Amino acid sequence: MAKAIAPMNAARPKVLLVDDVDANLVAFEAQLSKLDCELIRARSGNEALRALLKHSFAVMLLDVQMPEMDGYEVARYARENPQTRDVPIIFVTAMHQTETNALKGYGAGAVDFLFKPTNPEVLLSKVSIFLELHVSRQKLADALEAHKNTLAELEAFNYSVSHDLRAPLRPLDGFSQALLEDYGDQLDGKAKDYLNRIRAAANRMSQLIDDLLQLSRMGRAEMAARPTDLVALANTVVEELRRTDGGDRVQYRCIAEATVVADGRLLRIVLENLLRNAWKFSHKKPQPHVELGCSERDGQKVFFVRDNGAGFNPAHVNKLFQPFQRLHTDAEFEGTGIGLAIVQRIIKRHGGTTWAEGVPDEGATIYFTLP
Ligand SMILES: Nc1ncnc2c1ncn2[C@@H]1O[C@H](COP(=O)(O)OP(=O)(O)OP(=O)(O)O)[C@@H](O)[C@H]1O
Ligand SMILES: [Mg+2]
Repeated sequence: MAKAIAPMNAARPKVLLVDDVDANLVAFEAQLSKLDCELIRARSGNEALRALLKHSFAVMLLDVQMPEMDGYEVARYARENPQTRDVPIIFVTAMHQTETNALKGYGAGAVDFLFKPTNPEVLLSKVSIFLELHVSRQKLADALEAHKNTLAELEAFNYSVSHDLRAPLRPLDGFSQALLEDYGDQLDGKAKDYLNRIRAAANRMSQLIDDLLQLSRMGRAEMAARPTDLVALANTVVEELRRTDGGDRVQYRCIAEATVVADGRLLRIVLENLLRNAWKFSHKKPQPHVELGCSERDGQKVFFVRDNGAGFNPAHVNKLFQPFQRLHTDAEFEGTGIGLAIVQRIIKRHGGTTWAEGVPDEGATIYFTLP
């Protein structure tokens, strides 16, 4: 009969058997031989600790009564070391069941008990549960790792594509401009209009690529978080906004002070996007107001930028932070729809969250936390 052959390099989960009596180790091995796992022996506490450092185990069967170092001591040392603390332990003890209460509370990690003489059925079922747990954990960790790699590849791809896409745009715009300048007198109005449209499209594409590049950089940028004055940063942005067309009509109000731990350069990008939006979407109102405020939620500080401008339909609030999603047309308010995606990415990198509230024609509030 053909025998099922396990793939050579499929790592089998390992089980550590710790007992000072050889006969007990042999008995364990016989009872566990049915399971698809590798059994590793240790004849003392010291040997067990050495094995724990060398391999990753799905579970350890640990004899309680051993000379020199008993099972509890082994468990205590294992728990103290971050490298070995998560290995589940099944204590094997001759003690009476009632005494086991004293063994509880062994810190983190799974703990179970077996009583001598061990029942082979119970032993098998307990060990297999830990084996399954280990395998599914490993699968989850592998999937997470693969996911991380894909994400990093995507970021790199995004960056290089955006970078390379820009190159052909320069001659497209440049030669259109040259045509207009050098041959303009030979072209009629319609031809000039076409050329201007080509230039506008090239510039728009260039802007989109810039935004895409900035978004991809935000995911990879180095971060240096230190105490930063949020209000002072906002004020520098507001000064710039006041100088824009109609920008000085906006009434701006802000909290007295707020020191947060953040990367100043990235935080400025957040404030710039939020305040620029608030200015943009409110400046057509007869009395535009913008506020930088702070409130509390679940004991945590929540910052917000609020305006009384165009607002948005709350049914589409989920789209707000997605790249290139806009709830207003270009004719109403210009933009590419990348600002809030960048804001969300930066806040996420600081460990915070973002969300928004809006009422059409009454205004919007964008919230963020910085733990
Ligand atoms: N303060 C606000 N009031 C009303 N709508 C807003 C506000 N902020 C954002 N939005 C809505 O969310 C969309 C996405 O905002 P985001 O800042 O990402 O893009 P944008 O401002 O349109 O373009 P960009 O920031 O790339 O120049 C906006 O197009 C708008 O529809
Ligand atoms: Mg914006």
